[in-house]
Amino acid sequence: MALPLPRPNLERVVPYKPGKPVEEVVRELKLKGPVIKLASNENPLGPSPKALAALRKALPQLHYYPEDTCYYLRQHLSELYRVDYDSIIVGNGSVDLIYLACLAYLDPGDEMIISAGSFISARIAGTIMNANIIQIPTREYRHDLERILASITPKTKLIYLDNPINPLGTIVNRKELAEFMAQLPEHVLVVLDEAYAEYITSRDYPRGLDFYNQNYNILVLRTFSKIYGLAGLRIGYGFARPEIIQTLMKVRLPFNANRAAQVAAIAALSDTRHVKRSRQVNEAGKAMFYREFKRLKLFYLESYANFVFVNFTVDSSLIFDILQRKGVITRTVKEYGFPTALRVSVGREPENRRFLKALNETLAYLRISTPAAD
Ligand SMILES: Cc1ncc(COP(=O)(O)O)c(C=O)c1O
Repeated sequence: MALPLPRPNLERVVPYKPGKPVEEVVRELKLKGPVIKLASNENPLGPSPKALAALRKALPQLHYYPEDTCYYLRQHLSELYRVDYDSIIVGNGSVDLIYLACLAYLDPGDEMIISAGSFISARIAGTIMNANIIQIPTREYRHDLERILASITPKTKLIYLDNPINPLGTIVNRKELAEFMAQLPEHVLVVLDEAYAEYITSRDYPRGLDFYNQNYNILVLRTFSKIYGLAGLRIGYGFARPEIIQTLMKVRLPFNANRAAQVAAIAALSDTRHVKRSRQVNEAGKAMFYREFKRLKLFYLESYANFVFVNFTVDSSLIFDILQRKGVITRTVKEYGFPTALRVSVGREPENRRFLKALNETLAYLRISTPAAD
């Protein structure tokens, strides 16, 4: 029987491929020992304990629909960041908000500019809307803001910038972003995705909120999936001028942020201890990775986030597969244009040690030269 025809541009859509869950790897490879996942930039310390306590209390209310406008969470965010309530939107993860921006602003044939190495969900969302996706290669593993600006046309509606950029972990700095924003034509909305912002203490790191405060056409995205450890609940938020927020509100699904997630998110915002500790563990883990990558003479990028990009001289699937058989799940990044690299999320110390041991064994097995083998 013939099938109904989907929209033709969906032929160009390659669905998002998430990091493999532990359960799937254990099942597929029939692994016995414990498996660790360093594949999706989750918080290895787990959810904020305050969020867990709030969740337990909220569970008996789950037969009620959520607060549709996320009133209480938006109030909390409004106070914490000194942003008007009407300038805040909450989503089913920050990915939801990327999709809403595409749904609200992209007509077929409109242009959306992204870096070739950027978080792939933005490219997928724009392609679903049948926009022309203009991909700008990164320069020295960073967003090439000059080329992005030079690529703007009257048809450009959205520019998606993840800062730090995933999977590279590099940033554009304050000065660079300020110069970029100042040159932006008024018909363009910048979606500035700051999924990893809370991990960053560097003074070089620009806060998207500053540009919102200067009334630029910017949608600043944040998430509870990373440092707050709530990826499984799916909740993120955004700041933008109220007119932009109203537009996004028109296209969202009713109840797009669930009741449990809203309650947990409010509690997580006040859990400064958990945030601080998560940052410390992340910094220590990255330092451990760098030391070992240096010793192994591997190319890596210093990361502002909770993952590290490391490059090899062989197809990364080889390394990925062997690591996985050793019970360590990492992530290939071929779809981002890096066929020989892996992205490894930073874990707790024992997990990091286990990954580095497995990596050493893998490289020795593949006879990839290391100082020890030289
Ligand atoms: C840059 C970036 N934005 C957004 C997300 C997803 O965030 P959320 O879980 O809030 O949808 C990720 C996840 O890896 C990411 O790297």
